[in-house]
Amino acid sequence: MALKFITAEEAANFVSNGDVIGFSGFTAAGAAKAIPTAIAQKAKAEHKIGNPFKIGVITGASTGDSLDGELARAEAISFRTPYQSHPDLRKLINAGKADFFDSHLSIVAQNIRYGFYGKLDFAVIEACDVTEDGEIVPTSSVGVSPTICNKANKIIIELNTAHPKELRGMHDIYEPKDPPHRKEIPIYKSNDRIGSDVIKVDPSKIVGIVETNRPDEVGAFSELNETTKQIGKNVADFLAHELRTGRIPKEFLPIQSGVGNIANAVLTALGENESIPAFEMYTEVIQDSVIDMMKAGHVTFASGCSLTVSPPMLKDIYENLDFFHPRLVLRPQEITNHPEVARRIGIISINTAIEVDLFGNVNSTNVLGTTIMNGIGGSGDFTRNAYVSMFTCPSVAKGGAISAIVPMVSHVDHSEHSVQIIVTEQGVADLRNKSPKAKMEAIIENCAHPDYKEQLWDYVKIGGEKHTPQTLAAAFGMHNKFAKTKDMKNVDWREYLHD
Ligand code: COA
Repeated sequence: MALKFITAEEAANFVSNGDVIGFSGFTAAGAAKAIPTAIAQKAKAEHKIGNPFKIGVITGASTGDSLDGELARAEAISFRTPYQSHPDLRKLINAGKADFFDSHLSIVAQNIRYGFYGKLDFAVIEACDVTEDGEIVPTSSVGVSPTICNKANKIIIELNTAHPKELRGMHDIYEPKDPPHRKEIPIYKSNDRIGSDVIKVDPSKIVGIVETNRPDEVGAFSELNETTKQIGKNVADFLAHELRTGRIPKEFLPIQSGVGNIANAVLTALGENESIPAFEMYTEVIQDSVIDMMKAGHVTFASGCSLTVSPPMLKDIYENLDFFHPRLVLRPQEITNHPEVARRIGIISINTAIEVDLFGNVNSTNVLGTTIMNGIGGSGDFTRNAYVSMFTCPSVAKGGAISAIVPMVSHVDHSEHSVQIIVTEQGVADLRNKSPKAKMEAIIENCAHPDYKEQLWDYVKIGGEKHTPQTLAAAFGMHNKFAKTKDMKNVDWREYLHD
């Protein structure tokens, strides 16, 4: 069947108010660019003449400015799922102008297949190659692309020549069967390949191909600072100690690491620690530090669903595909984040918290319990199923006015039953095998900032002798204090005892 080339505007004209679109993209890597921008322009034109125009947006995770940014600024989003991180979209959601529902990233594809998200009108997929018989080669991420291609009524391709066709072979496309017919996912090592190197679709569903040449809109990371460096060192020292005690096997275990500056610092510190052998990554996002470590021999293989690297790093990978093909695989997020695989291969998960409470519950998503930051991402998929699950964060935020260690988290993403290790720049709290009181002592003594230690001990004292020494009337005293004074310090716990 002949491929039909169209413009981005013609593609946007296929789309109607109320349609639901699944877009490729996991972070800005591999995200559709030209078509969402054209849809945003169409929305603006419709709004100008008084017509409603909004679409439902399903993606792999966060995307780039041309997708989430453009559609948010055009107020063209009715609902959005899952993870997002664009400031304009965050603003729209927190203003109540777009519905956002957060989800573990491993279950997005199956929720689409199960019909939990309703209809799917279009899949808009960035590809580096597409054939007349319906073989689509994704670009720098896979995300939920295989599932949205299979479930959408129609497919539109962005054929982006900024990604070389020689990328073919880096992807491992596999969709599990749905219950009651599901079998085990046969991944026993990070580098096992179990699927196809292309997404195979019915070619009659491809209604148009838009040619583009646009780089991924991946931003640069900030330089490491003293706090992130110390967090990285604390993680590396802890894992080196676990190796010495034999609690982690001497071959080491695959690392899953979140995305961002702390994750970069952690990976750098793991590479610098001479006690830690070269290791594999079984992770979600492969970022610059992983590639640097691969070139230095510290990382032997990386499995992920997204190559979220800076433009110069991506150029380097594309110019050296012979080196990287045997060392990298990009899979659907359903597989990179699958609980079954994480549990089987025994990952060490390292993710970032917004706040942690004295008993090990973690909030990764909602600032002060009310305002969405990004979303849970894959942190829940990994934390619940890891061999060792770790959370990192600076002990304070906003110049010290907020303590990341609070009596009770204002929103729960990861419960104390899944969270094992907390790391701040102050130190490490090992919560394994500890009662609530012992966890509390480890967290205050090892992780809280010195400015907040005494206040946290004072809070615990008002609880008296209980299995979990919470005082419900006072549990959000630090949050209340911040709401009133923009600082969590100097809470007078006695106020709460006279309620
Ligand atoms: N209260 C209020 N604000 C807080 C806070 C707290 N307890 N802790 C952090 N913040 C603010 C910071 O001040 C910063 O604000 P700014 O953007 O206005 O400067 C912002 O949250 C981000 O914090 P930062 O310290 O820069 O960390 P980060 O960029 O690494 O992001 C998370 C931290 C938790 C938001 C981020 O890691 C995330 O979204 N995690 C959830 C998903 C996940 O774990 N994904 C990876 C798994 S695969």
